[in-house]
Amino acid sequence: MIHSRITGTGSYLPGEPLDNRALIARHGLSSSDDWIIERTGIRSRHLAPKDVTSSDLALEASRRALAAAGRVPGEVDLVIVATSTPDYIFPSTATLLQNRLGMANGAPAFDVQAVCSGFVYALSIAEKFIRSGSHRCALVVGAEVFSRIMDWSDRGTCVLFGDGAGAVVLEAAEQPGVLTTALHADGRHHALLSVPGQICGGQAIGDPFLRMDGQAVFKFAVNALAEVAEEVLALAGLTATQIDWLIPHQANIRILQATAKKIGLPMEKCIVTVERHGNTSAASIPLALDDAVRSGRVQRGQHLLLEGIGGGFTWGATLLRF
Ligand code: UT7
Repeated sequence: MIHSRITGTGSYLPGEPLDNRALIARHGLSSSDDWIIERTGIRSRHLAPKDVTSSDLALEASRRALAAAGRVPGEVDLVIVATSTPDYIFPSTATLLQNRLGMANGAPAFDVQAVCSGFVYALSIAEKFIRSGSHRCALVVGAEVFSRIMDWSDRGTCVLFGDGAGAVVLEAAEQPGVLTTALHADGRHHALLSVPGQICGGQAIGDPFLRMDGQAVFKFAVNALAEVAEEVLALAGLTATQIDWLIPHQANIRILQATAKKIGLPMEKCIVTVERHGNTSAASIPLALDDAVRSGRVQRGQHLLLEGIGGGFTWGATLLRF
């Protein structure tokens, strides 16, 4: 049986951190450092300069993940980029990344759009390609420039998000690796978190900014994240006590705390980067994973539970032995 295993991680954050006070001053927001920290846990975020795109961030994160895995781009036979802020409507950010990595081996490359669940969706897809035997070395990336879709006059959303990218190399292996994955969606909730605009006749039609019913998203997120965690644990025949690290989508410290409590895990076992990164959507899980690997917290052989939820709604989890 073919398994899949993460052999390298990498990440990239653009520029210097921008703290809450500087963000508030820059946009003249009626907000405060105290409110943002108390309600979200966020202290700072990174925002990409205007000429920096998701593929720029993805390229740096991918180079670092490949170096960590001891692979060169020509050895990659599958490229998947999770993003809701692609460089263009088309071609995909994955093909731009493939080109910039200098890959000319004909490997398939495509984007996955599942908003903040994008990375767990992409990782699950890559795992299935590898387990089928069709591919052996996948580059799986989450990359976002959510600063491009912020309404900077909406204090309820613009203080929450940041830009960045994270990447992993997932390879065929004799031992797992990825133990179980679960993906879900419920499109009845599409209006609760969306960017409802379109491009038509050379113009943005409708509303091109992120809109969110924060409280409704919060309630749904806590329940869905706890349920999907229990689902992958049951599928793998593991209990919460056997999880070394919970690495959830980094949206709000209160969502992380409530989810960890529901699953029965102490916060000491939860990787938290939201205070430094804000919510980087599809990039948040691989960014948090790489941060935890490079700081020495995540070690080889440990059980990791990765889980995310995003617009759609979409949600999912991956349970793996690192
Ligand atoms: O990636 C997945 C997608 N996103 C999420 O998971 C986010 C989920 N939701 C949340 O994290 C929280 O709902 C928020 C952080 C967005 C909001 O926190 P909340 O505790 O639910 O606050 P609220 O929306 O109930 O607002 C409370 C008050 C309101 O004022 P009034 O009506 O009580 O006078 C808001 O207008 O806080 C006000 N408010 C702010 N005040 C200062 C909203 N944003 C701000 C702000 N600064 N930035």
